[in-house]
Amino acid sequence: MAEYPNVRLRRLRHNPIVRDMVRETHLRKSDLIYPLFVLPGSGIKNEIKSMPGVYQMSIDVLIEECKEVAALGIPAIILFGIPSHKDEVGSEAYDDNGIIQQAVRAIKKEVSNLLVITDVCLCEYTSHGHCGLLHGEEILNDETVELLVKEAISHAKAGADMIAPSDMMDGRVAAIRQGLDENGFSKIPIMSYAVKYSSGYYGPFRDAADSAPAFGDRRSHQMDEANSDEAIREAESDILEGADIIMVKPAGPYMDIIRRVKDEFNIPIAAYQVSGEYSIIKAGGKLGWIDEQRVMMESLLGIKRAGADIILTYFAKEVAKLLKD
Ligand code: PBG
Ligand code: ZN
Repeated sequence: MAEYPNVRLRRLRHNPIVRDMVRETHLRKSDLIYPLFVLPGSGIKNEIKSMPGVYQMSIDVLIEECKEVAALGIPAIILFGIPSHKDEVGSEAYDDNGIIQQAVRAIKKEVSNLLVITDVCLCEYTSHGHCGLLHGEEILNDETVELLVKEAISHAKAGADMIAPSDMMDGRVAAIRQGLDENGFSKIPIMSYAVKYSSGYYGPFRDAADSAPAFGDRRSHQMDEANSDEAIREAESDILEGADIIMVKPAGPYMDIIRRVKDEFNIPIAAYQVSGEYSIIKAGGKLGWIDEQRVMMESLLGIKRAGADIILTYFAKEVAKLLKD
């Protein structure tokens, strides 16, 4: 390699047009998935205190929101439901008339050009706030998987375009794949929350989805934040079970994991910039301590640079307004 003074790296930074030409990473609208929260009722739009600009919406309000999202050029949403009633076994999760099933049918009827992804887990629907069936304080794996399969099939029947299991039970991707296939949904992709850490960054989401566990935590199924080799095992097992897209979550604090998974496997990677990542940037902006818009763009570009092909982010609408393509 040549050396200074023949090499001057600043030469490519001098002219803004050249700078643009040599940009290695690009954030595009088509990279984005926008998370939305739906609850029963009508005319409801509750702002989540810890997530300024994010709302729980009833289906009528959600429809208008989805039209706006599609018009902004955001290709996809992911839906989270707040049910009308919760019980020990999370019945509304797999009820064909549950809140998500109703919402999906309404969106599919009224909004065109929007990919509808549904989050599959039980924690929003169980009275105890855990992601599965309990035996005492233990979360049962295989019994929970059976219910997740019912939930996924029910979402697909309602018209969901993609299924995203977020529960972290072992073997659920294979079981859901089989369940979907047997019910005529072999073309519906699975975006697996394959590498999901037990994270403090989910705090604001649990307010939004009303899904905080009544006791204990999620450490018996979500990953230990110290582990990186284990992320490869999780991704590999989900790929073997038939996952089409592998998700890493949270995104910003786990960019090393995004890169490792990207380098290891030839499969699209999604990264979830979770509620806490959003709230921190919003709070810093509100306090006037950081340039919110700039940090928002930098945080998302960083996630792409790390190797994500797709980003789930509560900033999707704000970003889409800034991006040209
Ligand atoms: C449900 C689920 C969670 C998130 C997405 N799906 C929360 C959790 O595991 O408690 C977090 C999303 C966010 O923080 O924005 N299993
Ligand atoms: Zn859960």
